Amino acid sequence: MVSINPFHASGKIRRRVYISLGLLIAMLYIMYSIESQRPHENCFAREFPDPFRVLEDVQKSHKQPKHGRNIFFHETSCSADGVIKLNARQACAIESAARMNPDWNAFVLFASPVGFRNRSALPLLDALHAYPNINLRYVNLSTYAQHTPLEDWMRSGEIFRSKYMNSHLSDIMRYLTLFKYGGTYLDLDVVVLKSFNDMEPNYAGAESARWVAAGVMNFEPDGRGHELAEMCVRDLLMNFNGQDWGNNGPGVITRVLKRICETQAPLMMTRERCRHFTVYPPEAFYAINFDDYLQFFEERWLEQALATVNRSIVVHVWNKFSKDHKVRVGSRVAYGVLAEQYCPRVYKASGEFF
Ligand SMILES: *[C@@H]1O[C@H](CO)[C@@H](O)[C@H](O)[C@H]1NC(C)=O
Ligand SMILES: *[C@@H]1O[C@H](CO)[C@@H](O)[C@H](O)[C@H]1NC(C)=O
Ligand SMILES: *[C@@H]1O[C@H](CO)[C@@H](O)[C@H](O)[C@H]1NC(C)=O
Repeated sequence: MVSINPFHASGKIRRRVYISLGLLIAMLYIMYSIESQRPHENCFAREFPDPFRVLEDVQKSHKQPKHGRNIFFHETSCSADGVIKLNARQACAIESAARMNPDWNAFVLFASPVGFRNRSALPLLDALHAYPNINLRYVNLSTYAQHTPLEDWMRSGEIFRSKYMNSHLSDIMRYLTLFKYGGTYLDLDVVVLKSFNDMEPNYAGAESARWVAAGVMNFEPDGRGHELAEMCVRDLLMNFNGQDWGNNGPGVITRVLKRICETQAPLMMTRERCRHFTVYPPEAFYAINFDDYLQFFEERWLEQALATVNRSIVVHVWNKFSKDHKVRVGSRVAYGVLAEQYCPRVYKASGEFF
């Protein structure tokens, strides 16, 4: 009688399972090590051949951010060829801010050493050059956090291992910059409609009933504003999480304000409750929520969208969601109409699409 040994058979199956598991683990390990060796860090420390005009280091340049009246932008992607990369929408944010605030200095801070050979060959940069209060600068990541609570943390290189490196670097830089200099931070996906002169310093804006957003923030360079900026920097140090997209931007300011205002609700964070810090309602900076971002891009929404942002100070267009929606120059969509009015030079220089 021939009998099949059941132990023998299941032994074979077990061996196959072990081999497959082993292969799977090996594959995961290889993927992980490729992932963790991405050349981010090298890109931020590159050197250049001579004819290239690399931007000045913001910490060393002659014109320093002044007491308070500064508007900061951070561009944190890495330019592989070292040439300044700004698209029309980013340039529009910069132009509109500088144009509405001629007595403020706008600093556009690039996290990798970048420059250009010939500015006239870059129409968007040429358009921005018309504004004497726009300053393009480079941030040296290995020295920027010196003498701040983030000094050791930046040196540890943890930021380069983040899953959302560019975005998290931008989160860190905005708090660090406001801590170092004071002033207003703006995201690069905004259009500024009004002057900041009438706003009392120390503010941010709610984007919903649950979150204070980090796309528009102002802190004074001293006093209570600076204390709050320091709390944000320390919160970042305690709670940084490279795996969670929103934790290190809106998460930071929301956590800090919940603590000092003693309320969980951004819409109740008034100046009285929050040690002279104001959280503006969504209408001020985020009137059209990210769920509705299509209103900026479709002609049928033009009237409604313009009416919604009519009393806003800044319009945020949610680049994370909207970046692939093209705007044909001259078309009657809200983003294009706002750009034509508030960043006219850039809009004109942007070519066929904005
Ligand atoms: C700079 O670029 C402009 C526009 O492309 C061109 O006309 C000009 O000759 C260039 N200048 C130099 C020095 O290359
Ligand atoms: C950044 O700073 C470090 C330390 O001072 C220096 O060695 C490095 O050359 C600087 N990088 C650039 C691109 O200037
Ligand atoms: C708001 O509407 C008024 C009246 O229609 C208009 O004059 C003004 O320019 C609008 N403001 C903005 C920021 O579009």
